[in-house]
Amino acid sequence: MDSGLGTGGDGLRWVGGCFGRFMTPKWVREAAMPSAEGVGARRATLQILDAVLRRGQTLDAAGAAVRTLPAPDRALAVAIAGETLRRLPDLDALIDSATRQRLPDDSKARMVLRLALAQKVGLGTPDHAVVATALPLVDGGLRRLVHGVLGTLLRRGLPPLDAPRLPEAVEQRWAAAWGGEAVHAARRLIARRPALDLTFADDAEAGAFAGTSLAPRHVRLESASVAELPGFAEGRWWVQDLAASLPARLIPAAAGDVLDLCAAPGGKTMQLAAAGHRVTAVDASEGRLARLRDNLDRTHLTAELVAADALAWEADRPFDAILLDAPCSATGTFRRHPEVLYRARPAIIAENADLQSQLLARAAQWLKAAGALVYSVCSLEPQEGEQMIDSFLAAHPEFALDPPRPGELPGFVMPAPQGWVRILPGLLEEQGGLDGFFIARLVRRG
Ligand SMILES: C[S@@+](CC[C@H](N)C(=O)[O-])C[C@H]1O[C@@H](n2cnc3c(N)ncnc32)[C@H](O)[C@@H]1O
Repeated sequence: MDSGLGTGGDGLRWVGGCFGRFMTPKWVREAAMPSAEGVGARRATLQILDAVLRRGQTLDAAGAAVRTLPAPDRALAVAIAGETLRRLPDLDALIDSATRQRLPDDSKARMVLRLALAQKVGLGTPDHAVVATALPLVDGGLRRLVHGVLGTLLRRGLPPLDAPRLPEAVEQRWAAAWGGEAVHAARRLIARRPALDLTFADDAEAGAFAGTSLAPRHVRLESASVAELPGFAEGRWWVQDLAASLPARLIPAAAGDVLDLCAAPGGKTMQLAAAGHRVTAVDASEGRLARLRDNLDRTHLTAELVAADALAWEADRPFDAILLDAPCSATGTFRRHPEVLYRARPAIIAENADLQSQLLARAAQWLKAAGALVYSVCSLEPQEGEQMIDSFLAAHPEFALDPPRPGELPGFVMPAPQGWVRILPGLLEEQGGLDGFFIARLVRRG
């Protein structure tokens, strides 16, 4: 279902995880061993959780690294790991309520209990299957402990955990930045599977497609197998969270020659090309650019692709408009990528902000007079959004904010008084919500 398009979160660099980076616990090495049928997926879940929480990998990368399992088992392992990460603090509280023994965060017993309970709460796995697939993961005294805790909790009955707590540091940060209601909305959203948003090259095609349209060229579906939807092979649409489609909507229709900086895998490149612009798409990652090329081929759209580090690359001409969809902490994508809440620690956010300010300064040099520079990040951290633009404007008095005009963005998007757009958890929640995003359009004066 993940086409690799739209939310763009994996511009994030490798981050050390929660448990200290270098020592691989014995239970993780054991989890990599072949196992009896039915338990293999859960063993793989142990490996995946270790890769995410201790080694800071993305869920997708950790899942892809499990090569010993058939694809359906691997998908199940990733799904169980995802459900575990969506509810980790509450699962831990449940575990702690059922044993007097304090289980270390990185202990095998806690990990097995977490994934067992996550299956029950998040996937509706029956009690007997939860127990039967957990016990073979542990031996001896640990098995008795896991059996005892699971028995206690399953007899007691698990709460629905449909608005689970986020990691405490994240809740504190977001409550300080956005207030308690945004945190409560994020809790509700993380327990739900996000909807599937499609962006169409042609608005008439979107109008003819079954689903809910919340913006021009947009259709929202409850869920679906992407490759089986009509129009996929013909390239009529691509998967892109509705929030991720907003930045390209702010590139003026008359722009013409547009630089798409940090472009891969290309959700926004395709929007710009479909809108008729001449697009130069730059990205530092050859692998991600190859996906962009595949996406353009499938959708029959064109752009000039440049594999380059934007901090070293030099544009050969000034552009009418520039879209900088910068690499970031990606915390706005927590509904699809719950691991971002564990990866994006303050040092990483600061590192991203440093890179973003360098990228913005370079982009500013390549813009024509009166040209538009749209900056966006799929982040819920003010350092990567509001504060980034405040400091850019302080250092670049030749730029000013250019707020969205009526009709440029869907009516439910209310720009902030400063003129930028901040998408918070809670917006359009009834209809399934959006990724968290920050978008600002800057115009170069004279
Ligand atoms: C948020 S993602 C972009 C998503 C993309 N705009 C889309 O809509 O599909 C950020 C991208 O920045 C790229 N990137 C990171 N550092 C870069 C740099 N110094 N120069 C160019 N690209 C960079 C990453 O490879 C990643 O593809």
